[in-house]
Amino acid sequence: MGSYFDGFDFEGIHEKSKELLLRPKTLSEEARNRYLEYFESRCAGSRASIEAAREHIPGGIQHNLANNHPFGLNCVRAEGAYLYDIDGNRYIDFLQAGGPTILGNNYRPVRDAVIKTLNSTGNLTGLFGEFEVDLAKKVKQYYPSVDLFRMLASGTEAAMIAIRLARAFTGKSKILKINGCYHGWSDQLLYDMRSVNTRNMFAAGVPDECLAQISSVYPNDLGELEQRFAENEQQGGMAAFLMEPIGQDSGALPIKKEFHQRARELCDRYGALLIYDEVVTGFRLGFGGAQEFYGVRPDLTMFGKSIAGGFPGAGAIGGRSEIMGLLSSGIATVGNNVMVGGTLTANPISCVAGYTTICELERTGAHAKLKTAADNITREIAALADRYAIPAAIYNQHSILHIDLCGMQHLTSHIDDDQIMENMFDLLASADQNMKEFAMALAAEGLIIAGGNKTFISLDTIGIADEALERFDRVFAGYE
Ligand SMILES: Cc1ncc(COP(=O)(O)O)c(C=O)c1O
Repeated sequence: MGSYFDGFDFEGIHEKSKELLLRPKTLSEEARNRYLEYFESRCAGSRASIEAAREHIPGGIQHNLANNHPFGLNCVRAEGAYLYDIDGNRYIDFLQAGGPTILGNNYRPVRDAVIKTLNSTGNLTGLFGEFEVDLAKKVKQYYPSVDLFRMLASGTEAAMIAIRLARAFTGKSKILKINGCYHGWSDQLLYDMRSVNTRNMFAAGVPDECLAQISSVYPNDLGELEQRFAENEQQGGMAAFLMEPIGQDSGALPIKKEFHQRARELCDRYGALLIYDEVVTGFRLGFGGAQEFYGVRPDLTMFGKSIAGGFPGAGAIGGRSEIMGLLSSGIATVGNNVMVGGTLTANPISCVAGYTTICELERTGAHAKLKTAADNITREIAALADRYAIPAAIYNQHSILHIDLCGMQHLTSHIDDDQIMENMFDLLASADQNMKEFAMALAAEGLIIAGGNKTFISLDTIGIADEALERFDRVFAGYE
Protein backbone atom coordinates (compact mmCIF):
# COMPACT_ATOMS: atom_id res chain seq x y z
CA MET A 1 0.00 0.00 0.00
CA GLY A 2 2.91 2.30 0.59
CA SER A 3 3.64 5.11 2.91
CA TYR A 4 1.47 8.14 3.20
CA PHE A 5 4.44 10.35 2.70
CA ASP A 6 5.52 8.76 -0.58
CA GLY A 7 2.27 8.95 -2.50
CA PHE A 8 -0.79 7.25 -1.22
CA ASP A 9 -3.38 4.97 -2.75
CA PHE A 10 -6.56 6.37 -1.18
CA GLU A 11 -8.90 4.56 -3.56
CA GLY A 12 -7.01 1.26 -3.19
CA ILE A 13 -7.50 1.39 0.55
CA HIS A 14 -11.23 1.79 0.12
CA GLU A 15 -11.53 -1.00 -2.40
CA LYS A 16 -9.71 -3.44 -0.13
CA SER A 17 -11.63 -2.23 2.86
CA LYS A 18 -14.98 -2.73 1.14
CA GLU A 19 -13.99 -6.20 0.01
CA LEU A 20 -13.02 -7.07 3.60
CA LEU A 21 -16.21 -5.68 5.02
CA LEU A 22 -18.55 -7.55 2.71
CA ARG A 23 -16.49 -10.74 2.43
CA PRO A 24 -14.58 -10.82 5.72
CA LYS A 25 -11.45 -12.86 6.20
CA THR A 26 -11.60 -14.73 9.48
CA LEU A 27 -9.35 -16.99 11.49
CA SER A 28 -9.79 -20.68 10.75
CA GLU A 29 -11.51 -22.57 13.53
CA GLU A 30 -8.29 -24.40 14.25
CA ALA A 31 -6.32 -21.11 14.61
CA ARG A 32 -9.05 -19.47 16.70
CA ASN A 33 -9.11 -22.45 19.11
CA ARG A 34 -5.32 -22.52 19.29
CA TYR A 35 -5.24 -18.85 20.25
CA LEU A 36 -8.05 -19.21 22.77
CA GLU A 37 -6.14 -22.14 24.22
CA TYR A 38 -3.07 -19.90 24.57
CA PHE A 39 -5.03 -17.52 26.76
CA GLU A 40 -6.56 -20.41 28.69
CA SER A 41 -3.32 -22.20 29.46
CA ARG A 42 -0.65 -19.49 29.44
CA CYS A 43 -2.51 -16.47 30.83
CA ALA A 44 -4.23 -17.86 33.91
CA GLY A 45 -2.76 -15.15 36.12
CA SER A 46 -4.07 -12.39 33.86
CA ARG A 47 -7.46 -14.01 33.73
CA ALA A 48 -7.68 -14.25 37.51
CA SER A 49 -6.59 -10.66 38.08
CA ILE A 50 -8.94 -9.19 35.46
CA GLU A 51 -11.80 -11.26 36.85
CA ALA A 52 -11.04 -9.99 40.34
CA ALA A 53 -10.71 -6.42 39.05
CA ARG A 54 -14.25 -6.56 37.66
CA GLU A 55 -15.55 -6.35 41.20
CA HIS A 56 -13.87 -2.98 41.63
CA ILE A 57 -13.43 -1.52 38.15
CA PRO A 58 -16.13 -1.47 35.44
CA GLY A 59 -15.30 -4.29 33.02
CA GLY A 60 -12.01 -4.90 34.84
CA ILE A 61 -10.11 -2.79 32.31
CA GLN A 62 -9.71 0.97 32.11
CA HIS A 63 -7.72 1.69 28.95
CA ASN A 64 -9.76 1.90 25.75
CA LEU A 65 -7.08 0.45 23.53
CA ALA A 66 -6.08 -2.46 25.78
CA ASN A 67 -6.34 -5.91 24.33
CA ASN A 68 -9.48 -7.37 25.92
CA HIS A 69 -10.38 -10.49 23.97
CA PRO A 70 -10.91 -13.08 25.34
CA PHE A 71 -9.76 -11.13 28.41
CA GLY A 72 -7.20 -8.46 29.21
CA LEU A 73 -3.57 -9.01 30.10
CA ASN A 74 -2.08 -7.98 33.41
CA CYS A 75 1.12 -6.13 32.53
CA VAL A 76 3.74 -6.23 35.28
CA ARG A 77 6.75 -4.80 33.45
CA ALA A 78 7.49 -2.59 30.47
CA GLU A 79 11.01 -2.17 29.22
CA GLY A 80 12.25 -1.00 25.84
CA ALA A 81 10.46 -2.84 23.06
CA TYR A 82 8.68 -5.33 25.29
CA LEU A 83 5.79 -5.75 27.70
CA TYR A 84 5.69 -8.60 30.23
CA ASP A 85 2.55 -10.10 31.73
CA ILE A 86 1.99 -11.57 35.16
CA ASP A 87 2.34 -15.11 33.78
CA GLY A 88 5.86 -14.46 32.52
CA ASN A 89 4.93 -14.02 28.84
CA ARG A 90 6.76 -11.40 26.80
CA TYR A 91 5.13 -9.29 24.08
CA ILE A 92 6.49 -6.94 21.46
CA ASP A 93 4.93 -3.58 22.21
CA PHE A 94 3.30 -2.21 19.05
CA LEU A 95 0.64 -0.56 21.20
CA GLN A 96 2.92 2.01 22.84
CA ALA A 97 0.02 3.00 25.09
CA GLY A 98 -1.79 4.40 22.04
CA GLY A 99 1.05 6.61 20.86
CA PRO A 100 2.72 8.74 23.55
CA THR A 101 5.94 6.76 24.03
CA ILE A 102 7.73 7.59 20.78
CA LEU A 103 11.12 6.80 22.29
CA GLY A 104 10.02 3.51 23.85
CA ASN A 105 8.93 2.18 27.20
CA ASN A 106 10.41 3.57 30.37
CA TYR A 107 12.97 5.49 28.30
CA ARG A 108 15.96 6.12 30.56
CA PRO A 109 16.85 9.81 29.90
CA VAL A 110 13.23 10.92 30.35
CA ARG A 111 12.86 8.83 33.48
CA ASP A 112 16.13 10.25 34.87
CA ALA A 113 14.98 13.83 34.20
CA VAL A 114 11.70 13.13 35.98
CA ILE A 115 13.47 11.62 39.00
CA LYS A 116 15.80 14.63 39.16
CA THR A 117 12.77 16.92 39.12
CA LEU A 118 11.06 14.92 41.85
CA ASN A 119 14.17 15.38 43.94
CA SER A 120 14.04 19.17 43.55
CA THR A 121 10.60 20.72 43.03
CA GLY A 122 8.75 17.51 43.88
CA ASN A 123 5.67 16.45 41.97
CA LEU A 124 3.53 19.55 42.34
CA THR A 125 3.71 23.02 43.84
CA GLY A 126 0.99 25.10 42.24
CA LEU A 127 3.51 27.87 41.59
CA PHE A 128 5.15 28.88 38.34
CA GLY A 129 8.22 26.90 37.29
CA GLU A 130 10.81 27.63 34.59
CA PHE A 131 10.19 24.17 33.11
CA GLU A 132 6.85 25.45 31.79
CA VAL A 133 8.64 28.00 29.63
CA ASP A 134 11.26 25.47 28.51
CA LEU A 135 8.53 23.26 27.07
CA ALA A 136 6.56 26.15 25.54
CA LYS A 137 9.71 27.42 23.78
CA LYS A 138 10.45 23.98 22.35
CA VAL A 139 6.91 23.66 21.02
CA LYS A 140 7.07 27.12 19.45
CA GLN A 141 10.41 26.25 17.84
CA TYR A 142 8.72 23.53 15.77
CA TYR A 143 5.18 24.87 15.39
CA PRO A 144 5.20 28.30 13.69
CA SER A 145 1.42 28.39 14.16
CA VAL A 146 1.93 28.51 17.93
CA ASP A 147 2.58 31.96 19.42
CA LEU A 148 1.38 31.01 22.87
CA PHE A 149 1.15 27.59 24.47
CA ARG A 150 -0.68 26.31 27.52
CA MET A 151 -0.51 22.95 29.24
CA LEU A 152 -3.66 21.02 30.23
CA ALA A 153 -4.34 17.63 31.73
CA SER A 154 -5.45 15.63 28.66
CA GLY A 155 -6.34 15.68 24.98
CA THR A 156 -10.00 15.75 25.97
CA GLU A 157 -9.41 19.00 27.84
CA ALA A 158 -7.51 20.38 24.85
CA ALA A 159 -10.57 19.80 22.66
CA MET A 160 -12.90 21.35 25.22
CA ILE A 161 -10.88 24.53 25.52
CA ALA A 162 -10.20 24.69 21.76
CA ILE A 163 -13.87 24.96 20.89
CA ARG A 164 -14.57 27.26 23.82
CA LEU A 165 -11.82 29.59 22.65
CA ALA A 166 -13.07 29.43 19.08
CA ARG A 167 -16.56 30.42 20.17
CA ALA A 168 -15.33 33.23 22.39
CA PHE A 169 -13.03 34.58 19.68
CA THR A 170 -15.44 34.40 16.73
CA GLY A 171 -18.68 35.06 18.59
CA LYS A 172 -20.21 32.15 16.63
CA SER A 173 -21.41 28.76 17.84
CA LYS A 174 -21.38 26.08 15.15
CA ILE A 175 -18.61 23.49 15.11
CA LEU A 176 -17.87 21.27 12.12
CA LYS A 177 -15.91 18.04 12.48
CA ILE A 178 -15.06 15.05 10.34
CA ASN A 179 -17.11 11.93 10.87
CA GLY A 180 -15.37 9.32 12.95
CA CYS A 181 -12.74 11.70 14.31
CA TYR A 182 -12.16 11.32 18.03
CA HIS A 183 -11.44 14.43 20.04
CA GLY A 184 -11.81 12.97 23.51
CA TRP A 185 -15.00 12.25 25.35
CA SER A 186 -16.44 15.63 26.30
CA ASP A 187 -20.21 16.02 25.91
CA GLN A 188 -20.05 18.24 22.87
CA LEU A 189 -17.67 16.21 20.76
CA LEU A 190 -19.05 12.68 21.01
CA TYR A 191 -20.80 13.16 17.72
CA ASP A 192 -20.81 11.04 14.53
CA MET A 193 -18.17 8.85 15.99
CA ARG A 194 -18.51 6.13 13.39
CA SER A 195 -19.94 7.87 10.41
CA VAL A 196 -22.08 10.73 9.21
CA ASN A 197 -25.58 10.53 10.64
CA THR A 198 -24.67 8.17 13.43
CA ARG A 199 -25.01 11.31 15.56
CA ASN A 200 -25.33 10.31 19.21
CA MET A 201 -24.32 6.67 18.77
CA PHE A 202 -21.66 6.11 21.48
CA ALA A 203 -22.96 9.19 23.28
CA ALA A 204 -25.33 7.67 25.82
CA GLY A 205 -25.83 10.14 28.63
CA VAL A 206 -25.13 13.18 26.47
CA PRO A 207 -28.16 15.50 26.27
CA ASP A 208 -29.28 16.34 22.71
CA GLU A 209 -28.70 20.05 23.40
CA CYS A 210 -24.99 19.37 23.73
CA LEU A 211 -24.91 18.12 20.17
CA ALA A 212 -27.16 20.81 18.73
CA GLN A 213 -24.34 23.03 17.42
CA ILE A 214 -22.18 20.36 15.87
CA SER A 215 -22.25 18.65 12.50
CA SER A 216 -19.84 16.55 10.49
CA VAL A 217 -18.54 15.92 6.98
CA TYR A 218 -16.93 13.06 5.11
CA PRO A 219 -13.24 13.59 4.63
CA ASN A 220 -11.97 14.36 1.12
CA ASP A 221 -15.34 15.52 -0.25
CA LEU A 222 -14.61 19.13 -1.17
CA GLY A 223 -18.13 19.84 -2.43
CA GLU A 224 -19.73 18.70 0.79
CA LEU A 225 -17.21 20.67 2.81
CA GLU A 226 -18.12 23.89 0.98
CA GLN A 227 -21.81 23.15 1.43
CA ARG A 228 -21.47 22.62 5.19
CA PHE A 229 -19.59 25.88 5.64
CA ALA A 230 -22.28 27.72 3.69
CA GLU A 231 -25.12 26.05 5.64
CA ASN A 232 -23.51 26.85 8.97
CA GLU A 233 -23.05 30.46 7.90
CA GLN A 234 -26.78 30.70 7.18
CA GLN A 235 -27.59 29.14 10.55
CA GLY A 236 -25.76 31.69 12.68
CA GLY A 237 -22.14 31.10 11.78
CA MET A 238 -19.39 28.68 12.44
CA ALA A 239 -16.76 29.01 15.17
CA ALA A 240 -14.43 26.24 14.05
CA PHE A 241 -13.62 23.35 11.79
CA LEU A 242 -11.94 20.71 13.92
CA MET A 243 -10.06 17.77 12.49
CA GLU A 244 -7.65 14.95 13.20
CA PRO A 245 -5.33 16.05 10.41
CA ILE A 246 -4.32 12.54 9.31
CA GLY A 247 -7.90 11.31 9.50
CA GLN A 248 -10.18 9.59 11.93
CA ASP A 249 -8.88 7.10 14.45
CA SER A 250 -5.24 8.15 14.04
CA GLY A 251 -5.43 7.99 10.26
CA ALA A 252 -7.77 5.08 9.58
CA LEU A 253 -9.30 7.18 6.82
CA PRO A 254 -6.51 9.38 5.51
CA ILE A 255 -7.07 12.92 4.35
CA LYS A 256 -5.85 14.43 1.09
CA LYS A 257 -3.76 17.58 0.95
CA GLU A 258 -6.38 19.37 -1.16
CA PHE A 259 -8.93 18.84 1.59
CA HIS A 260 -6.66 20.56 4.10
CA GLN A 261 -5.98 23.45 1.76
CA ARG A 262 -9.67 23.94 1.02
CA ALA A 263 -10.48 23.76 4.74
CA ARG A 264 -7.98 26.57 5.37
CA GLU A 265 -9.46 28.69 2.55
CA LEU A 266 -13.01 28.15 3.75
CA CYS A 267 -12.15 28.98 7.35
CA ASP A 268 -10.59 32.24 6.14
CA ARG A 269 -13.58 33.02 3.90
CA TYR A 270 -16.17 32.43 6.63
CA GLY A 271 -14.16 33.66 9.62
CA ALA A 272 -14.06 30.27 11.34
CA LEU A 273 -10.99 28.92 13.12
CA LEU A 274 -9.14 25.89 11.82
CA ILE A 275 -8.27 23.58 14.71
CA TYR A 276 -5.88 20.67 14.25
CA ASP A 277 -6.11 17.90 16.78
CA GLU A 278 -2.46 16.84 16.90
CA VAL A 279 -2.89 14.82 20.08
CA VAL A 280 -1.57 11.75 18.25
CA THR A 281 0.47 13.35 15.48
CA GLY A 282 2.22 16.14 17.41
CA PHE A 283 5.95 15.35 17.60
CA ARG A 284 5.24 11.86 16.21
CA LEU A 285 5.03 12.49 12.48
CA GLY A 286 8.14 14.62 12.75
CA PHE A 287 8.83 17.61 14.97
CA GLY A 288 6.25 19.77 13.23
CA GLY A 289 3.46 17.17 13.26
CA ALA A 290 0.83 16.89 10.57
CA GLN A 291 0.72 20.64 9.92
CA GLU A 292 4.32 20.58 8.79
CA PHE A 293 3.57 17.72 6.39
CA TYR A 294 0.47 19.36 4.93
CA GLY A 295 2.03 22.82 4.90
CA VAL A 296 -1.10 24.30 6.44
CA ARG A 297 -1.12 26.65 9.41
CA PRO A 298 -4.05 26.05 11.77
CA ASP A 299 -5.30 28.75 14.13
CA LEU A 300 -5.23 26.45 17.12
CA THR A 301 -3.43 23.17 17.71
CA MET A 302 -4.33 20.58 20.30
CA PHE A 303 -1.51 18.53 21.79
CA GLY A 304 -1.60 15.45 24.02
CA LYS A 305 0.06 12.07 24.47
CA SER A 306 3.76 12.69 23.68
CA ILE A 307 3.60 16.30 24.91
CA ALA A 308 4.18 14.91 28.40
CA GLY A 309 6.61 12.23 27.24
CA GLY A 310 4.27 9.41 28.26
CA PHE A 311 3.73 10.84 31.74
CA PRO A 312 0.41 12.06 33.18
CA GLY A 313 -0.84 15.52 32.38
CA ALA A 314 -0.73 14.97 28.62
CA GLY A 315 -2.68 17.81 27.11
CA ALA A 316 -2.01 21.27 25.75
CA ILE A 317 -3.28 23.94 23.42
CA GLY A 318 -1.32 26.39 21.31
CA GLY A 319 -2.08 28.96 18.65
CA ARG A 320 -2.33 32.53 17.50
CA SER A 321 -1.62 35.05 20.26
CA GLU A 322 -4.82 37.03 19.81
CA ILE A 323 -6.86 33.85 20.40
CA MET A 324 -4.70 32.27 23.08
CA GLY A 325 -4.47 35.62 24.83
CA LEU A 326 -8.13 35.22 25.82
CA LEU A 327 -7.15 32.44 28.19
CA SER A 328 -6.72 33.27 31.78
CA SER A 329 -6.72 31.36 34.99
CA GLY A 330 -6.62 31.78 38.71
CA ILE A 331 -6.77 35.26 40.18
CA ALA A 332 -6.15 36.89 36.79
CA THR A 333 -9.58 35.78 35.52
CA VAL A 334 -11.59 38.88 34.65
CA GLY A 335 -14.37 40.00 32.33
CA ASN A 336 -14.89 38.02 29.16
CA ASN A 337 -11.74 35.99 29.39
CA VAL A 338 -12.04 32.31 28.68
CA MET A 339 -11.90 30.27 31.86
CA VAL A 340 -9.52 27.34 32.00
CA GLY A 341 -8.31 25.45 35.03
CA GLY A 342 -6.75 22.27 36.31
CA THR A 343 -5.11 21.51 39.64
CA LEU A 344 -2.44 19.29 38.11
CA THR A 345 -2.00 21.37 34.95
CA ALA A 346 1.58 22.27 33.95
CA ASN A 347 3.00 20.25 36.81
CA PRO A 348 6.79 19.78 36.89
CA ILE A 349 6.64 16.12 35.87
CA SER A 350 4.63 16.52 32.66
CA CYS A 351 6.56 19.62 31.55
CA VAL A 352 10.00 18.15 32.24
CA ALA A 353 9.09 14.80 30.66
CA GLY A 354 7.68 16.55 27.57
CA TYR A 355 10.68 18.86 27.25
CA THR A 356 13.20 16.05 27.71
CA THR A 357 11.35 13.89 25.18
CA ILE A 358 11.66 16.58 22.53
CA CYS A 359 15.37 17.06 23.36
CA GLU A 360 15.89 13.29 23.04
CA LEU A 361 14.04 13.20 19.72
CA GLU A 362 16.53 15.83 18.56
CA ARG A 363 19.60 14.07 19.98
CA THR A 364 18.73 10.62 18.62
CA GLY A 365 17.47 11.70 15.19
CA ALA A 366 14.52 9.45 16.00
CA HIS A 367 12.08 10.71 13.36
CA ALA A 368 14.15 9.76 10.33
CA LYS A 369 14.91 6.35 11.80
CA LEU A 370 11.27 5.76 12.66
CA LYS A 371 10.08 6.69 9.21
CA THR A 372 12.51 4.36 7.43
CA ALA A 373 11.73 1.51 9.80
CA ALA A 374 7.98 2.04 9.57
CA ASP A 375 8.05 2.23 5.77
CA ASN A 376 10.03 -1.02 5.64
CA ILE A 377 7.95 -3.01 8.08
CA THR A 378 4.72 -1.82 6.47
CA ARG A 379 5.94 -3.01 3.09
CA GLU A 380 6.90 -6.37 4.60
CA ILE A 381 3.60 -6.86 6.41
CA ALA A 382 1.71 -5.97 3.22
CA ALA A 383 3.80 -8.50 1.28
CA LEU A 384 2.98 -11.17 3.87
CA ALA A 385 -0.73 -10.40 3.62
CA ASP A 386 -0.47 -10.72 -0.17
CA ARG A 387 1.27 -14.06 0.19
CA TYR A 388 -1.70 -15.36 2.20
CA ALA A 389 -4.19 -13.68 -0.17
CA ILE A 390 -5.58 -11.48 2.59
CA PRO A 391 -6.88 -8.27 1.01
CA ALA A 392 -5.94 -6.21 4.07
CA ALA A 393 -5.61 -2.44 3.84
CA ILE A 394 -2.06 -1.94 5.11
CA TYR A 395 -0.28 1.41 5.07
CA ASN A 396 1.62 3.75 7.31
CA GLN A 397 1.65 7.40 8.16
CA HIS A 398 5.18 7.75 9.44
CA SER A 399 5.39 5.59 12.59
CA ILE A 400 1.65 4.85 12.73
CA LEU A 401 0.77 1.64 10.88
CA HIS A 402 -2.75 0.71 9.87
CA ILE A 403 -3.59 -2.92 9.36
CA ASP A 404 -7.27 -3.20 8.55
CA LEU A 405 -8.40 -6.79 8.20
CA CYS A 406 -12.07 -6.18 8.76
CA GLY A 407 -13.19 -3.28 6.57
CA MET A 408 -13.72 -0.75 9.30
CA GLN A 409 -12.43 2.05 7.08
CA HIS A 410 -15.06 1.43 4.47
CA LEU A 411 -17.80 1.07 7.04
CA THR A 412 -17.01 4.45 8.50
CA SER A 413 -16.75 6.28 5.22
CA HIS A 414 -19.35 4.97 2.80
CA ILE A 415 -22.66 5.31 4.48
CA ASP A 416 -24.05 6.39 1.12
CA ASP A 417 -23.46 2.85 -0.10
CA ASP A 418 -26.86 1.06 0.13
CA GLN A 419 -25.26 -2.32 0.65
CA ILE A 420 -23.59 -0.92 3.76
CA MET A 421 -26.51 1.12 5.06
CA GLU A 422 -28.98 -1.74 5.03
CA ASN A 423 -26.71 -3.91 7.16
CA MET A 424 -24.88 -1.22 9.11
CA PHE A 425 -25.24 -2.71 12.59
CA ASP A 426 -24.58 -6.32 11.59
CA LEU A 427 -21.51 -5.26 9.66
CA LEU A 428 -20.30 -3.18 12.56
CA ALA A 429 -20.67 -6.11 14.96
CA SER A 430 -18.84 -8.56 12.71
CA ALA A 431 -16.07 -6.04 11.89
CA ASP A 432 -15.60 -5.42 15.62
CA GLN A 433 -15.40 -9.15 16.31
CA ASN A 434 -12.85 -9.64 13.53
CA MET A 435 -10.76 -6.79 14.87
CA LYS A 436 -10.76 -8.32 18.33
CA GLU A 437 -9.78 -11.73 16.99
CA PHE A 438 -6.88 -10.27 15.00
CA ALA A 439 -5.59 -8.55 18.15
CA MET A 440 -6.08 -11.77 20.13
CA ALA A 441 -4.15 -13.81 17.56
CA LEU A 442 -1.26 -11.35 17.54
CA ALA A 443 -1.15 -11.24 21.32
CA ALA A 444 -1.05 -15.04 21.49
CA GLU A 445 1.87 -14.92 19.04
CA GLY A 446 3.59 -12.37 21.30
CA LEU A 447 2.77 -8.96 19.85
CA ILE A 448 0.34 -6.33 21.12
CA ILE A 449 -1.29 -3.82 18.77
CA ALA A 450 -3.64 -0.92 19.42
CA GLY A 451 -7.35 -1.59 19.21
CA GLY A 452 -7.04 -4.32 16.57
CA ASN A 453 -6.27 -2.20 13.52
CA LYS A 454 -3.26 -0.01 14.17
CA THR A 455 0.19 -0.03 15.66
CA PHE A 456 2.63 2.57 16.91
CA ILE A 457 6.33 2.03 16.36
CA SER A 458 8.82 3.40 18.86
CA LEU A 459 12.55 3.95 18.62
CA ASP A 460 13.00 0.77 20.64
CA THR A 461 10.88 -1.48 18.44
CA ILE A 462 12.87 -0.59 15.32
CA GLY A 463 15.55 -3.12 16.27
CA ILE A 464 13.18 -6.07 16.48
CA ALA A 465 11.31 -5.68 13.19
CA ASP A 466 12.21 -9.20 12.01
CA GLU A 467 10.90 -10.72 15.20
CA ALA A 468 7.66 -8.77 14.74
CA LEU A 469 7.31 -9.91 11.13
CA GLU A 470 7.58 -13.56 12.15
CA ARG A 471 4.59 -13.02 14.41
CA PHE A 472 2.50 -11.41 11.67
CA ASP A 473 3.46 -14.29 9.37
CA ARG A 474 2.20 -16.88 11.85
CA VAL A 475 -1.06 -15.00 12.40
CA PHE A 476 -1.79 -14.48 8.69
CA ALA A 477 -1.17 -18.20 8.14
CA GLY A 478 -4.19 -18.87 10.37
CA TYR A 479 -6.64 -16.95 8.16
CA GLU A 480 -8.92 -18.66 5.66
C1 LIG B 1 -6.92 12.44 18.13
C2 LIG B 1 -7.22 12.41 19.59
N1 LIG B 1 -7.70 13.52 20.17
C3 LIG B 1 -7.99 13.55 21.48
C4 LIG B 1 -7.80 12.44 22.27
C5 LIG B 1 -8.14 12.49 23.73
O1 LIG B 1 -6.97 12.54 24.48
P1 LIG B 1 -6.98 12.04 26.00
O2 LIG B 1 -7.13 10.56 25.97
O3 LIG B 1 -5.65 12.47 26.54
O4 LIG B 1 -8.11 12.73 26.67
C6 LIG B 1 -7.28 11.27 21.70
C7 LIG B 1 -7.06 10.07 22.52
O5 LIG B 1 -6.77 8.99 22.06
C8 LIG B 1 -6.99 11.24 20.32
O6 LIG B 1 -6.54 10.15 19.72
